[in-house]
Amino acid sequence: MAARLNTSLQNTLSLLNPFNTLLTKKPFSSRNSFRFSKKLPSSPRRALYCTSSLESHDNAETFVLTTPLYYVNAPPHMGSAYTTIAADSIARFQRLLGKKVIFITGTDEHGEKIATSAAANGRNPSEHCDLISQSYRTLWKELDIAYDKFVRTTDPKHEAIVKEFYDRVFANGDIYRADYEGLYCVNCEEYKDEKELLENNCCPVHQMPCVARKEDNYFFALSKYQKPLEEVLSQNPRFVQPAYRLNEVQTWIKSGLRDFSISRALVDWGIPVPNDDKQTIYVWFDALLGYISALTEDNEQQNLDTAVSLGWPASLHLIGKDILRFHAVYWPAMLMSARLNLPKMVFGHGFLTKDGMKMGKSLGNTLEPFELVQKFGPDAVRYFFIREVEFGNDGDYSEDRFIKIVNAHLANTIGNLLNRTLGLLKKNCESTLVVDSTVAAEGVPLKDTVEKLVEKARTNYESLSLSTACEAVLEIGNAGNAYMDQRAPWMLFKQGGVSTEAAAKDLVIILEVMRIIAVALSPIAPCLSLKIYSQLGFSNDQFNSITWDDTKWGELKEGQVMAQASPVFVRIELEAAEKDEEEKKKPKDSKKKGKAKVKVEQQPQTVTEA
Ligand code: MSP
Repeated sequence: MAARLNTSLQNTLSLLNPFNTLLTKKPFSSRNSFRFSKKLPSSPRRALYCTSSLESHDNAETFVLTTPLYYVNAPPHMGSAYTTIAADSIARFQRLLGKKVIFITGTDEHGEKIATSAAANGRNPSEHCDLISQSYRTLWKELDIAYDKFVRTTDPKHEAIVKEFYDRVFANGDIYRADYEGLYCVNCEEYKDEKELLENNCCPVHQMPCVARKEDNYFFALSKYQKPLEEVLSQNPRFVQPAYRLNEVQTWIKSGLRDFSISRALVDWGIPVPNDDKQTIYVWFDALLGYISALTEDNEQQNLDTAVSLGWPASLHLIGKDILRFHAVYWPAMLMSARLNLPKMVFGHGFLTKDGMKMGKSLGNTLEPFELVQKFGPDAVRYFFIREVEFGNDGDYSEDRFIKIVNAHLANTIGNLLNRTLGLLKKNCESTLVVDSTVAAEGVPLKDTVEKLVEKARTNYESLSLSTACEAVLEIGNAGNAYMDQRAPWMLFKQGGVSTEAAAKDLVIILEVMRIIAVALSPIAPCLSLKIYSQLGFSNDQFNSITWDDTKWGELKEGQVMAQASPVFVRIELEAAEKDEEEKKKPKDSKKKGKAKVKVEQQPQTVTEA
């Protein structure tokens, strides 16, 4: 019924060539869509925290990336934070390459699920949306998420664009009215095929029974786009990433696309359907447009063409695997219908799980990101999830593992090496570099090792293998530690004469390694990187203008004075974290009020012996 084909629409289809839109601009690179660009003459400055306006990057290649727009039925949990942390790391890396990045995030505020949740909390929907949307912004600030655009689907500028888009699709003959009867999952906001449901018609994602619904709705003629979609995917196999998700999408399409309902008669909290205010536009047909409406400025005339001219198509939609069908099937078909370019890539990452189940608001098994970030700081949280979860796959969280990883990598491998080296430099060289790092490294194989690892980090950042990029940076730290242990400069200083000179050079070499680590790790742990840079005697402005080219060996110069050593990352004490857990288990009124604090073991200010 819903999958029927309107023949007059089929005629329109023959006029439509989605590949014009997709391919006339920039063809997909067969190896990689994200090519490395050389450092530009004037490199853009990156904000460490959120930026509200874009600085001008004339001539720079634009890189637009998006997170999903998060439902405001409940405040963010760690699963929603995960996508945003990954997106922010990618955005920061792309800025380092000199690109003009537009990093879009926001909140999805319409629909039944939101209205129900507002009512359950005794609020009117609009109050509720303001409150929860703000909690996302607050979390992004705490996590050092430097987004460029935050879109809300209740914003009038967004609504205007949704209506215009709807009109275009309608004018193209792709919207018709019909009855629909089926099983609906309110949490997915989607009618489900019976064959994909579990026992008792339970939704496999939310483990809750779907409800039978019958509605008179407007439909989008998705089935008409079956062939064009198949062609898009076969001509651009990198459109859906990781590669194994492409098969999934191709299987859906092959099994036959059914038209889908794009309005709701029973839901008031939404954008009215143009020319029929008894129906509201389906949340997905509304929210996906946020990726385009976000591009407009508040003081600009709000229309599709203006928005599109400001950065569409997106280079990358970063999403969780549960919403792949909307992004890799529905959305491209909708765009084709409106004769707009398709995004260049959709990357579906895996889930953060707890006891093997998707962590989520509907299942109520979430991990509190505010608590985590207050307890351990943004760098630790960002680093752990990026390093620990292979991007694309699922990953489980455990506090033990969290503490082990961040202590071993950030406190020991990186923090301690910097601290020891600065301590030795203070004691023996008045905190001053005795020679240029390029001169110091002549004939030293460590420099080549670092260069190779920097390249490994870059290629992995580019291909979105974020965990491997992290690993490469850590390997640089391991190489630095091995050099320190092997050279034992503290012994050389004791020997005096030429040995002292050699030891002083060794310290310059290790500090140059630390500097390179700071640049290469800055997409993932920006505060930590800034702290390292400051201790190496650079200003905040100097840090804010680094580019990926600064991973090249040789920035540290003779005479540069290092700052007073202080731990850049304090070790988390396992015992303290356990006490904290015990504290949580105590009955409420026996708990102390206030934030959970982690007792940290301060690293010595200066360590002169290894
Ligand atoms: N509102 C829609 C998206 C519309 S985009 C135009 C939505 N919102 S959501 O809040 O339910 O989910 C947002 C994102 O968070 C999705 O990509 C989803 O996969 C992700 N995550 C939610 N729980 C998650 C985990 N437990 N783990 C990782 N990501 C998860 O869908």
